[in-house]
Amino acid sequence: MIKQKKSESSIAKIIFSGIQPSGNLNIGNYIGAISQWVEMQKDYDCIFSIVDYHAITVKQNPEILRKRIIEVTKIYLAAGIDPQKSIIFQQSTVPAHTELAWILNCYGTHIADLNKMTQFKDKTGDNKESASVGLYDYPVLMASDILLYGTDVVPVGEDQKQHVELTRDIARRFNGEFGPAFKVPTAVVRKEGARIMSLLDPTKKMSKSDDNQNNCISLLDSPENARKKIMRAVTDSGSDVVYDVENKPALANLLTIYAQLGIRQVNRLERDYAGKGYGDFKKDLADVVVKFLENFQAKYNAISDDEVLEILESGRQRAENIASKKLEEVRKLIGVR
Ligand code: AMP
Ligand code: TRP
Repeated sequence: MIKQKKSESSIAKIIFSGIQPSGNLNIGNYIGAISQWVEMQKDYDCIFSIVDYHAITVKQNPEILRKRIIEVTKIYLAAGIDPQKSIIFQQSTVPAHTELAWILNCYGTHIADLNKMTQFKDKTGDNKESASVGLYDYPVLMASDILLYGTDVVPVGEDQKQHVELTRDIARRFNGEFGPAFKVPTAVVRKEGARIMSLLDPTKKMSKSDDNQNNCISLLDSPENARKKIMRAVTDSGSDVVYDVENKPALANLLTIYAQLGIRQVNRLERDYAGKGYGDFKKDLADVVVKFLENFQAKYNAISDDEVLEILESGRQRAENIASKKLEEVRKLIGVR
């Protein structure tokens, strides 16, 4: 991770990241993204968004979407994002995002770029023709989120790296044509835990849009349900608790979850479980997950909806203030002002 103490420079570097309020946020989102954000608050000026206009690239039920926007904000807060330090806001409340996305659609993004995006290909499979144009264009809205704030660093899970690469290309192209309007950002992916895998199929990412919720541990799962899911998680052949992604991918994934939520290094876990089998290991992992969820949910439940609305409104104002200036600069550069 790129570290920079605020005290060592007059202007702290800027972090931007976001999560869509779709599906149930799970421990993959926490380990791969949110827990990293919490640490970064110490050293950077951070902006974290609830990216609701990304969520509607696939159909959402309006009632559920409204509820999830509040839910995701509470998850940020319960995880330790501090609204006094960091900006927390809802993407759709700052219209500059969609406006800049339109401009970048026209200047900076080629159809060939979007045709390369693996997430779009994976999500649509054989149904590309009936996917929404929004789903196809989604990375340009993400570029606009990032570029509006002069972002230096974008902390994300592995699957989002390609979208940040595209953001860099768009920024460079735009700057090449109109002058240095945008800072070119860098993606930061954590070394361990950047890709937490499904509990029942270690070749698949643990995904909040998975139809089978036994693949995932949601941050709001009841602790006892989570325990059952861990006990039912697949393991590999053999019985030694060793970290070996090639030959024991399921166990490697469980070791990563244990290390991240239990705050113990993987090699320490290997030593602690030498001579013990998978059974003991899974039982203890279940305890670690249960303890983590109990603690997390106690914080989550203590936050009221009113508190969330206040935080989002204050975040909106702070975000709007930065974004509207950058957008106006861009409007001038392209000649509409
Ligand atoms: P998504 O759930 O796709 O909206 O992702 C929200 C954030 O969580 C992004 O930064 C993802 O890269 C990260 N993320 C999602 N799923 C995982 C996972 N299974 N392991 C690690 N990070 C993840
Ligand atoms: N596309 C990201 C995801 O699905 C969410 C996202 C939207 C995002 N805008 C962003 C992440 C800007 C980082 C920066 O996970």
